[in-house]
Amino acid sequence: MSPVDRNVPRPIPPSIIQVLPAEPLLLMGAGPVPVPAEVARAGGMVINHLGDTMNMVVDGVKEMARYVFQTHDDKVYGVSGPASACMEMAVGNLLWPGRRVLVLKLGWFSGRFAEMAAGVGATVDLLEVPEGEPVLARQVEGKLAEGKYDVVTVVQGETSAGVWTRDLPEIATLARQAKALMVADAVCTLSTMPLKKDEWGIDVVFTGSQKGISSLPGVSLITFSEAAWETVKQHPGPKPHWCLDVMRAQNFWGNHTYHYTAPVTGLLAMYEALRLICEERLEQRFARHRASSLALQAGIEGMGLKLSIPAEHRLNSVVAIDIPEGVDGARARRYMSERFKVEISGAFGRDIVRIGQMGEQCRAPNLFRTLHALGVAFSREGAKLDLSRGMAELEAQLIEHAAGVL
Ligand SMILES: Cc1ncc(COP(=O)(O)O)c(C=O)c1O
Repeated sequence: MSPVDRNVPRPIPPSIIQVLPAEPLLLMGAGPVPVPAEVARAGGMVINHLGDTMNMVVDGVKEMARYVFQTHDDKVYGVSGPASACMEMAVGNLLWPGRRVLVLKLGWFSGRFAEMAAGVGATVDLLEVPEGEPVLARQVEGKLAEGKYDVVTVVQGETSAGVWTRDLPEIATLARQAKALMVADAVCTLSTMPLKKDEWGIDVVFTGSQKGISSLPGVSLITFSEAAWETVKQHPGPKPHWCLDVMRAQNFWGNHTYHYTAPVTGLLAMYEALRLICEERLEQRFARHRASSLALQAGIEGMGLKLSIPAEHRLNSVVAIDIPEGVDGARARRYMSERFKVEISGAFGRDIVRIGQMGEQCRAPNLFRTLHALGVAFSREGAKLDLSRGMAELEAQLIEHAAGVL
């Protein structure tokens, strides 16, 4: 008798080298983003997930993450999974039946909190604004005056629309005054723009690896304040998620003992990505992101395209651009990939394209290549653009504002 079931066919797929394009695409969309060579190298090693070397890696990741989150929190964790796993960790440990959460929804990602909170049996209330608009502190103030909440959730940058929650510090203050824990999604913003967790009084902040941090997708970071930890301890149990139970995560991240087999390669890559951020310094990194994004925005407008979000609420880390009349956005993006090997993002429903300005995306050569590819692709679709003027504007902005920064 055969030891295998011959009815299940044995596939003979191409090798991954054959699957990948000969020249990798330049990833200029909403993430993942290109990674530095040091990070790629670090992610190519496997070591034991327990033991002295891993303990040093874990302690190093925590210490560097504190700097990047701008916090003194003791409870800092890496999570094996996407940034949504951290969102789920926050929700699953702070909310349960009988607890109330106010979700500030300004788009696709900020709304995800509500789905997760409903999933753990919490009572969910939404403060929802039309996509493309920010949630303002005074709107939150009004909502908090109407009812009592245990948790308020917010996104610092809504990637789906390219909107920045400029009022985040004020919103955190309001949540604290209302005795609600504040949970902030900094997935597309951390290390690209200021976020002072402790100073602003935010209880939980999380991020992914594949955006500002410029590491390999699959390992995310989250940090809990003392107040949040006190709430975690009050969870009546059983916890909805075993892997995402922070008390269990504390075994590995606090006590260097087994919880589950840690994502070794992703952690080594994360260590190296965080080290590069510390080496660059946050002040310099924020300046690089700002100069890069503003120069790109000037180039986009210079060629005659319209930025979707007004400047006061525009997210610098993901720039949303209106698609001109008659242009097929998906076809234009495909052309950019095929002809110029540059990939940018479409959107979930809205007629926009999005260019990322996170981590390694904010390098001068990437800006020129992306803007040129965008201009050619849209012009080919019939848009009336002045490509030369856009490129010249980008150049002029970089000379004026980015010397020594980019
Ligand atoms: C603001 C924001 N929150 C959450 C997520 C979810 O991240 P992930 O896809 O890593 O789960 C994203 C992903 O793009 C995001 O941009």
